[in-house]
Amino acid sequence: MARHLITSALPYINGIKHLGNMVGSMLPADVYSRYLRQRGHEVLYICATDEHGTPAELAAKEQGVPVDEFCASAHDAQKAVYDGFALAFDYFGRSSSPQNTEITQHFARRLNENGFIEERAIRQVYSPADGRFLPDRYVEGTCPHCGYDKARGDQCENCTRVLDPTDLIEPRSAISGSTDLEVRETKHLFLLQSKLQHEVEEWVARHEEEWPQLAASIARKWLNEGLHDRAITRDLDWGVPVPADTWPDLAAEGKVFYVWFDAPIEYIGATKEWADQDPENRDWKSWWYDADATVRYTEFMAKDNVPFHTVMFPATELGVREPWKKVDYVKAFNWLTYYGGKFSTSQKRGVFTDQALDILPADYWRYFLIANAPESDDSSFTWEHFTATVNKDLADTLGNFVNRVLSFSKKRFGEAVPAGGEPGEAETRLGTEIATLLAEYEAQMEALQFRKAAAALRALWSAGNSYLEEKAPWLEIKTDKDGAALTLRTAMNLIHLYAVVSEPFIPGTAAAMRQAFSLEEDTATWITPDEARALTTVAAGTPFAVPPVLFAKLTDDDLDAYKERFGGEPQPA
Ligand code: MF3
Ligand code: ZN
Repeated sequence: MARHLITSALPYINGIKHLGNMVGSMLPADVYSRYLRQRGHEVLYICATDEHGTPAELAAKEQGVPVDEFCASAHDAQKAVYDGFALAFDYFGRSSSPQNTEITQHFARRLNENGFIEERAIRQVYSPADGRFLPDRYVEGTCPHCGYDKARGDQCENCTRVLDPTDLIEPRSAISGSTDLEVRETKHLFLLQSKLQHEVEEWVARHEEEWPQLAASIARKWLNEGLHDRAITRDLDWGVPVPADTWPDLAAEGKVFYVWFDAPIEYIGATKEWADQDPENRDWKSWWYDADATVRYTEFMAKDNVPFHTVMFPATELGVREPWKKVDYVKAFNWLTYYGGKFSTSQKRGVFTDQALDILPADYWRYFLIANAPESDDSSFTWEHFTATVNKDLADTLGNFVNRVLSFSKKRFGEAVPAGGEPGEAETRLGTEIATLLAEYEAQMEALQFRKAAAALRALWSAGNSYLEEKAPWLEIKTDKDGAALTLRTAMNLIHLYAVVSEPFIPGTAAAMRQAFSLEEDTATWITPDEARALTTVAAGTPFAVPPVLFAKLTDDDLDAYKERFGGEPQPA
């Protein structure tokens, strides 16, 4: 069994994420990790908050707290939401950790020794009133092309033209509004990615065939445009400091690494955090160093992150000239839209993950989001689609099946799985169908095809309903009590099978279904084809309890209330 290293793109520290963010990185990574663990693989699922950069500094300033305090509490707030979503990280770290500082500085030193870092002087806007250099997008002014008066120094939002801060008419600081700006020369470290272009191309060529088309095509596009040298330091207070032993001048000026330089390194940093806080001192390095033969590394992210993960971070890793593990498989997602428009953190449009959990438990969201993941194309979230899916798949097909079977059996046979009857033709047909669908579900999970995996899971649930309708134990019992007992016992075995195989999608409900049966030894983490065909794991006589309703049906009033609260109108894309 291979060891599986799994990471999901690190959520930026600023603010609680919306559902689009969740479905494009952490949630599918969690579903996949849970599946692999159940299949007996050794799995390490790592994530962290991405804490450095200007937006964090500004958000802290706005709240009037030091940036480290801001990040500490924002980290805890995000972690609480992810716990609520039942994301089973092995570790959820912080890119501001000492471990990440140490590894980031090590990477920079090695890149420098290998000739891939150069100091260059650049001219940058300085704001004496703010006491700092201003990143391009924190210089605002009037666009020279269209006259829009809130154009940013990197781009005009109105006419979309790319700008240089010095192009702006009447430039001002976006932080303080000060118009007293000057251009100063300052030195920065540049990563000479152009020197690594060839190696990155060779590396991508060895992997892209296996990658999904979305990831491969984005990597290709960036390589075709050519890798440019880029500044990897910034004039900020908050970040990984440039190491003084190697660059004493820059360190004295307080330069820190650019957030996109240290963020992916935090995948490694967080693994070390995980090891350091464990008394057994687990071997973090065996996951990352010289691990090509033993570890399979899968990354999850939305498409805007693909260039950084398929090209830039691999370039960094290659330039370090040490055998750091590079990604094997890149699972990239398109956008989840809100009624066809953008989910927007700044404009507060869409559903945020904390609000989602206020409304309904995690499993409703987990199932809906994965079943509609924006895999091959963007997909649109609407409350109509959400409520219809919950009602049909979760409340009717799964929840109602479980409750009907257990309640009816309890009423007619008491609180133990009923004995009697011999499996016949209907049970053989059902077993064959379940074994086939289970194999399909496994194949789609192995292929990281989440929508198709969800469809196979749904088909497993439906097969139970068809069987129950066909056998109709509520009629059967009038003429053939043993036959009804067999039907109910078989259906209960389906419930147990659903409990096991649905766990990656709906872990809370899966646990409730499993706990319905007081099996003496219920250690099964998966179902073999033979068990799926036989459907006899839960033996006659096993005590059971009827669980509370697994999924509430959502009413038209619920739908209206959601649309009222969040806005349910189509938005321009
Ligand atoms: N914080 C980034 C984003 O939200 C993702 C960082 S992924 C990492 O887009 F690789 F840099 F860690
Ligand atoms: Zn413009």
